[in-house]
Amino acid sequence: MASSIKSNLNPFLANKLSFTRTERSISCMKRAVSNNLAAACAVKSRSKALNMERALRERKIDGVERRERRGKFGIYGGKFVPETLMSCLGQLEAEFNLVLHDAKFQAELAIALRDYVGRETPLYFAERLTNYYKNENGEGPDIYLKREDLNHCGAHKMNNAIAQAMIAKRMGQQMVVAATGAGQHGVATAAACAKLSLECTIFMGSEDMEKQASNVFLIKLLGAQVTQVEGSFKDASSEAIRQWVNNLERSYYLTGTVVGPHPCPSMVREFQSIIGRETRKQAMERWGGRPDVVVACIGSGSNALGIFHEFTGDEDVRLVGVEAAGFGLDSGRHAATLATGHVGVYHGAMSYLLQDQEGQVLGAHSIGVGLQYPGVGPELSFLKDTGRAEFYNVTDKEALSAYQLLSRLEGIIPAMEAAHALAYLDKLCPTLPNSTKVVVNCSGRGDKDAPLFFQHLPTLNA
Ligand SMILES: Cc1ncc(COP(=O)(O)O)c(C=O)c1O
Repeated sequence: MASSIKSNLNPFLANKLSFTRTERSISCMKRAVSNNLAAACAVKSRSKALNMERALRERKIDGVERRERRGKFGIYGGKFVPETLMSCLGQLEAEFNLVLHDAKFQAELAIALRDYVGRETPLYFAERLTNYYKNENGEGPDIYLKREDLNHCGAHKMNNAIAQAMIAKRMGQQMVVAATGAGQHGVATAAACAKLSLECTIFMGSEDMEKQASNVFLIKLLGAQVTQVEGSFKDASSEAIRQWVNNLERSYYLTGTVVGPHPCPSMVREFQSIIGRETRKQAMERWGGRPDVVVACIGSGSNALGIFHEFTGDEDVRLVGVEAAGFGLDSGRHAATLATGHVGVYHGAMSYLLQDQEGQVLGAHSIGVGLQYPGVGPELSFLKDTGRAEFYNVTDKEALSAYQLLSRLEGIIPAMEAAHALAYLDKLCPTLPNSTKVVVNCSGRGDKDAPLFFQHLPTLNA
């Protein structure tokens, strides 16, 4: 694998950064992480922390999970942050490990997910969409939608936002800061903070505020402050992190996706993996087995990992991630990080990244505003290199078509982000045997995208 990783490195980085040096700094980092974890646990209770360590060691966990405990997925992930942030992240990691095993927290979360978020979400048989993809012999796959669009506030983002807001409260923080692209994470965070009586500031790029104006209103209505940042989601994320660093004592950075330094990717994945757990149970009830293919769109990866994680050990379940090809991969205006990116470090972790020859981060483009991020979660980079998941991409135009198709066939308006996963069915369905069970993660609802759709309608019809 080392050689494939080396060949994937940005050519500039590969020359400048020898592997020996990277490995040395990673091992220094690991020492620092474990020191910080121990220090944070000492604040809580030393014996509790030791018991927890022992319990985790004794659990039967496979090699992948073992690496993950150190915040690494193969070479990806880690904690590439300034010294000042290390102890803070250590405290967060310790708190996260505690709540995972805290029966009271888990019971409160289960109630919030049921009564506030509205889980479980249905696994819906999309009959007309299934018929649409049948061939001339009347054969084709059976298509189901995992209805994350039915969650409170209209997307999967709430699964994570409510859980992390509960952690912030437990840690005694009064203020939450977050960055949002499409606004769905902003709305979910603002709502969770209202419920838990936390102050909330949402950072949003100026371009995104314009495109997703309805969500800006909702965030304000929910009592949060919206801070405009010049640019898009990546710029808003940088600014939110900067604000957090300036006020570490009082504030909690509520990350909305599986990127950032450890423990952020593992934490968000954990809170989103309820999507896959429910899917397994519902598939068993419906057809007495597992899905054959699971499809999800990829912005940074939280809805994809949320549905994939449960099935990574089931080799017979295909995991299909769909990235945004924007105007096409050759146009340079896309967000297909796994298809065209190189390994680099961004927002505190190592992963695939859209960057130029000199390692400068490139802007990403997609009609799905929530897909416009130049990076991707480290665990997805690992799934790409190991071949466990497959990754494809669809253009803006294909996503717009799928947005319209699902609206007209099923009366379900998908988020433009989710429309990318649906658009890939055009290529996938003709290759599948009759009655293959396909589950598409419908990650959110698309009311927010209706103005954007009509603005682009002439392109679609051209
Ligand atoms: C509905 C919806 N789906 C998908 C995404 C992409 O994010 P992720 O890849 O983390 O699921 C977003 C991001 O805002 C979103 O709002």
